[in-house]
Amino acid sequence: LRGHRTPPPSPPPPPQQQLPHCIIIGARKCGTRALLDFLDAHPNVAAARSEIHYFDKTDRLRRGLSWYRGQMPRSRPGQFTIEKTPAYFVTEAAPRLARRQLGANLRLLLILRDPVTRVVSDYAQHLHRRAKAGRPARPLERLVLSGSGRVNPRSRMIQTSVYHRHLRRWLRHFPADRLHIVDGDRLIGEPHEELRLVEQFLSLPSFLNRPEQFVFNSTKGFYCVRGRRQRQRCLGSEKGRQHPPVSPVTLAKLRAYFEPHNLRLAELTGRRFAWMG
Ligand code: A3P
Repeated sequence: LRGHRTPPPSPPPPPQQQLPHCIIIGARKCGTRALLDFLDAHPNVAAARSEIHYFDKTDRLRRGLSWYRGQMPRSRPGQFTIEKTPAYFVTEAAPRLARRQLGANLRLLLILRDPVTRVVSDYAQHLHRRAKAGRPARPLERLVLSGSGRVNPRSRMIQTSVYHRHLRRWLRHFPADRLHIVDGDRLIGEPHEELRLVEQFLSLPSFLNRPEQFVFNSTKGFYCVRGRRQRQRCLGSEKGRQHPPVSPVTLAKLRAYFEPHNLRLAELTGRRFAWMG
């Protein structure tokens, strides 16, 4: 028809804040920041930069879901909103609250690494914080062994590494197919392989599954991600710290302590990780 013009396409809806579709629940010092930053480089992901601590801090929980939503980044339709708070993994009430408030469709990512390495990484952080505060550091043995010299099962550093116990609690509230475990040790050496599995789990278009998305930074000794517009992003200096030397006797005690727990994790997940020995 003469004079007829096709109307211009309607503008895309403005980006909006949304409750998370996926949470990285932990575990602390296993590579949670690397996983979040790598995923944030994906065009279909919008990640909250800081840890929100909604399900583990009662004063934040009391502010309600609209407060929680307000902490999220703006996202376009079709983008996945992700937050990470490693404290959720070990917080008794977190799985029940997350299920009740976000529903059973929530996807959960859990990243785990050798539990002994995790303890040493936690200790490296302790040393760093003490030095920064000008306070004397405690020897690792004081933090993880009891007076008798045995591994202290009540130590927080030890408890965090007893992965099957926390995971069992999460699986009481979420179907197993809603939770994916990322191998933190493999994320360090072959990030694209672990990200391929994460993309499959989240039904995201393939983007981070190619080796060329990651660039090894020899100064840092870790991979950095090539994000949108090919910009390279590395983690800060507080990630990938040098680990302090640990006495072989203490290491042997820790290895022996975690061995049966690793077995129970293998039974629970049906997966054997290289670090299980
Ligand atoms: P270390 O600093 O002990 O080496 P989290 O973010 O959960 O605190 O985990 C920190 C750990 O992430 C680091 O522990 C480091 O080993 C690991 N990590 C994995 N991939 C990394 C990367 N590309 N850059 C820096 N650290 C990475």
